[in-house]
Amino acid sequence: MRIVRSILLGLMLVAASVSAREGEPVVLQVAIDKPGATIDRNVFGQFAEHLGRGIYEGVWVGPDSTIPNTRGIRNDVVAALKEIRVPNVRWPGGCFADEYHWRNGIGPAAKRPATLNPNWGGVIEPNSFGTHEFMEFVKQIGAEAYLSVNVGSGTPREAAEWLEYLTTGQPTELARERAANGHSEPYGISFLGLGNENWGCGGSMTPDYYVSQLKIYARYSRNYNAAHSMKKIAVGPDGTDTGYTEAVMKAWKERNWSWDIDGLSLHSYTVGGWPPKYVATGFGEKEYATLIKETLRMEDLVRTHGAIMDKYDPEKKIALVVDEWGAWLAPTEGSKEGFLEQQNSQRDAIIAALNFNTFARHAARVRMANIAQMVNVLQAMILTDKERMLLTPTYHVHRMYVPFQDATYLPVSFDAGSYTVDGITLPRLDAVAARSKDGKVWLAVANVDPTRGVDIELGATGFMRATGESLTAPKIDSVNTFAAPATVAPKRIEAKASGKKLTLKLAPHSVTVVALD
Ligand code: AHR
Repeated sequence: MRIVRSILLGLMLVAASVSAREGEPVVLQVAIDKPGATIDRNVFGQFAEHLGRGIYEGVWVGPDSTIPNTRGIRNDVVAALKEIRVPNVRWPGGCFADEYHWRNGIGPAAKRPATLNPNWGGVIEPNSFGTHEFMEFVKQIGAEAYLSVNVGSGTPREAAEWLEYLTTGQPTELARERAANGHSEPYGISFLGLGNENWGCGGSMTPDYYVSQLKIYARYSRNYNAAHSMKKIAVGPDGTDTGYTEAVMKAWKERNWSWDIDGLSLHSYTVGGWPPKYVATGFGEKEYATLIKETLRMEDLVRTHGAIMDKYDPEKKIALVVDEWGAWLAPTEGSKEGFLEQQNSQRDAIIAALNFNTFARHAARVRMANIAQMVNVLQAMILTDKERMLLTPTYHVHRMYVPFQDATYLPVSFDAGSYTVDGITLPRLDAVAARSKDGKVWLAVANVDPTRGVDIELGATGFMRATGESLTAPKIDSVNTFAAPATVAPKRIEAKASGKKLTLKLAPHSVTVVALD
């Protein structure tokens, strides 16, 4: 048996070192005998901030709306989100979280104060969607709650009281208030963010200053619900800057009994320079390639920060939590300033797939991620227009990757060569594989090249059939609109082995996910 294995491995290595020639199939090997880490379902998490039409209109329409809703939450959006099995939702921000005071969002709707949202358009925040509404929302979609406490402009006491209000089962004053507001049972909060971007909109804190705050918030933001564990996530790096990574991880290594964390957050957008200038549709191949190259930096970021984390935490106890990622493009013409509205094209679908593949390759360390954002904001899953709703190409990629949730990573090897445009060279293909809990082997392949389709030949693993879905589009900048909502939609794909060869035909600029039998 051992000899057969090493022959197989030898064949794989030979195949991996052979570069695909023009017109020839790309031989791809799935190392089914080399299982890696579990791909935590939480890497498919979402982010829903009080920003533009993300919450108001996108999720919350209120119980009196003519738009069909359940306790104020849109039924169509809930049904769509259930399909993609959203594991967790991060709320209420973002920059908004560091100016959010939770008491404004509890109690009778008529008594809630109107406040301001200075970060995002300076609009009125009605506070109609608050703690109970958020917890109702995650319950309706079957997700876990990821709350961020206000470190920037709040106090440790405010955060501590929010946690007591949410999680204690004892008859305290705060628990009685929660019950009077309709929820006598303690809530289960799975994840708690200790601040947001405190190197930037969260107070421009130096790494050392943040660490001193972190220790206090990590100590006093307690979970009182013993039946539901809660993981604490510290603010970490802004892109390539390693200051927070070093400082937080060093402090964690030297911590005493009084505080602890479970994760370190990383924020990195595919933006191509600030302010965002890349248009969401109507772009050419060069703009396509520029942003694909930019998104591939996620691989280096995860490696760089992962290496620092390994230094302090070789056992990988602390997760790297990429809780803001995605394309940040020029806003849709005519949309309100600060609302961050943008269309979502086939390029976004490929961006999503490439990031998922990176998270899968680093599954041992990257155990949670949250795309920014869920509805109507940045690289959204869903766009709404009053009573209408559409699913974006990014939504479809999330649904296609559902089998990868909690699956075991399997390495793949291939050499597909590259694709070059205007001096920008990109790997032509990107692929990952995994074994899902039911034992099936899944393969996800992104054909990055917009000019060439590709034949993938599954080598030496004995697979006879591939079935699944492929997300193709007429053009790299194709989008779904309310008038044409299915321009970019997954189509069924199937291939059967002929002789011993199983060949999959992939379209240019496509994302494909198949089960292999
Ligand atoms: O997602 C939009 C904003 O981007 C978030 O509020 C902030 O954390 C980040 O800078």
